[in-house]
Parts: sequence; structure tokens; C-alpha cells
Amino acid sequence: MADRDTAANQLEEFKRTQWSPDTLTTGIGSPVGDKNASMTVGPRGPLLMQDFVYTDEMAHFNRERIPERVVHAKGGGAHGYFECTHDVTRYTKLKPFEFVGKKTPLFVRFSTVGGESGSADTARDPRGFAVKMYTEDGNWDLVGNNTPIFFIRDPLLFPSFIHTQKRNPQTHLKDPDMFWDFISLRPETTHQVSILFSDRGTPDGFRHMNGYGSHTFKLVNKNNQPVYCKFHWKTDQGIRNLSAEKAAQLAGSEPDYAIRDLYNAIAEGNYPSWSLKIQVMTFEEAEKFRWNPFDLTKASK
Ligand code: HEM
Repeated sequence: MADRDTAANQLEEFKRTQWSPDTLTTGIGSPVGDKNASMTVGPRGPLLMQDFVYTDEMAHFNRERIPERVVHAKGGGAHGYFECTHDVTRYTKLKPFEFVGKKTPLFVRFSTVGGESGSADTARDPRGFAVKMYTEDGNWDLVGNNTPIFFIRDPLLFPSFIHTQKRNPQTHLKDPDMFWDFISLRPETTHQVSILFSDRGTPDGFRHMNGYGSHTFKLVNKNNQPVYCKFHWKTDQGIRNLSAEKAAQLAGSEPDYAIRDLYNAIAEGNYPSWSLKIQVMTFEEAEKFRWNPFDLTKASK
């Protein structure tokens, strides 16, 4: 047991929290007397429809596969909270920013984008950074990536762009020609591709990367005055990336590297945190800005 970490001991730990760990239950929580055999009329059958444990087992099994998401299939997340540290009420009436010191519960999910659910966490790929805050006005989703910009400006191109990283239907293999054809034909991808092929394309787990809402949003204050806004989550752990060699090695030896790192850090009380920063621009500034502030292929420095 010496080399078992917290994640490897999850089942043992969970068992300890159960008041009756030896009792199996059905899908609705009723105790099951015996789950070693179906009920039959006699030793040779037939099976009995009254066997609720059997029908419950099959009903679950036949429906337990949820089709995998077309993007962001592999990921991991955690519950936490947002704490307001600065007064920004002159810009927004959003509930989480109501007063300094206010805490709002949230959930965050980090993910890779192109790979299947079983793919390696260390793949060269953007990372998703999706935050859901549970506010008094309802759930507030801030869906982001670990990059402030994106490959494309026109959403019509997104399905084709994603298909370039899926499998070629003829070979059932990933196909570099599909990817590089797209990139070379769409110059607006260059900025994001440059980030992707820097070390930021292989972050060291989920804790050491920033998150960006990427898009330009609108904030409205209690007097209904609007400003434009970008959201940036800056990691308090510091940026840390993997070299291409290390990422490739981990893809083979520890494909769930980022999920395990996040799980163990939290289980050990080493809670990761991010500082949320906003960038605001008035409507007048937006009119005069040197490029369209809604262009997702441009950085907002
Ligand atoms: C036209 C452009 C886009 C399209 C059509 C698109 C489409 C999708 C789809 C279909 C999903 C899977 C949803 C599901 O099955 O639950 C998804 C997930 C996601 N997308 Fe996009 N996306 C686009 C652009 C973006 C951009 C620009 C960002 C980052 C700012 C982003 C971040 C994410 C994240 C983080 C998730 C995973 C959310 C989670 O963890 O639950 N997407 N997207």
C-alpha cells in the first residue's frame, strides 16, 4: 500500500464514510438481499419478472452510456467559491460582486478540447476553463479557455475546425494534413496557433494555468449604465508548463495526469485558487479602438 496516493484510496475512504458499507442497494436506494443470482421458477428457469433487482440492474445497464461531448470530452472539476475582494459596483449589479467579502458558491470544470474522453491530459490542445456561479439571481456561467483569444472569428467555421482534429473517416487516424490545411488557409488562426505551439500548449495540470472568458461581455450597473468587459482568471499557483518531451512521456505513463493532480491537491488540503480580474471599456472607447473589440482573434492588452 506504500505507493498508493489519496486518489488510489478513494474507494477505501468512501467505504469508511458509509453507515452500512456491506449493504448493496438498488437504483432507488432499497437494500438488496442477494445479488448473486436472478430469481427463477426452478433450477432451470425460467426467470421471474417479479425479480425487481434483476430488472433494475438491466434498466440501468442498458442506459448507462451517455454519448461523449463532441468537444471538451475529457476533464475534471471541483466545487469552490468566489470571494469579492474589490468594489466594482460602479460597473456591475451582478450578484457575486454585490459587496466586498461576499462569497458565492461555484463549480469549475477544466478540460482538453479535441481528444476523446480517454485521451491524454497532457495533449497539446487548449484547455477549457468553465465556471458556474450559483447566485441568488440564478446560475451564472462564464465559459472560458486558458487562452485570451481563439482560432477563428466566424463561428460558422467551428465545426470544420474541430473536425480537423478528429479522425479521418477513411483511416480512423488523426490526420495532420486536415489540421494544417485549415490553419494555412485561415490566417486569423495564427495568433492562437502560436500560443498552442508555445509551452502554454501543454500546461502542467489544471492548477498552473490562467482562464479567460475570451469574449467581450457587457456589464450593467444598478443605474442600467453599461460597459464592455473581459474576464481573466489568473492562477495564484503561478504559470507552469510541461516541455514537449515531458508531455509526451506523461501521455504514455500517466494519461490522467491533470485530473489526478487536481484531485490529490484538493484531497490534501492544498486548495488551488485564481484571482478574477476584469478589463473594462466604455462604448465610446470601443467605437474608437484600433480594432473591433468583439474580434475573438485579437488579444485585449
Ligand atoms: C462557434 C464557436 C463554438 C462552438 C460552436 C462551440 C461548441 C461547443 C460544444 C458543442 C460544446 C459541448 C457542450 C456539451 O456537450 O456539453 C462546447 C463546450 C465547451 N466550450 Fe465551446 N464552442 C465554441 C467556442 C468556444 C470558445 C470561444 C470557448 C472559450 C472561450 C469555448 C469553451 C468551451 C468550454 C470550456 C466547453 C466545456 C464546458 C464544460 O466543461 O462543461 N467554446 N463548446
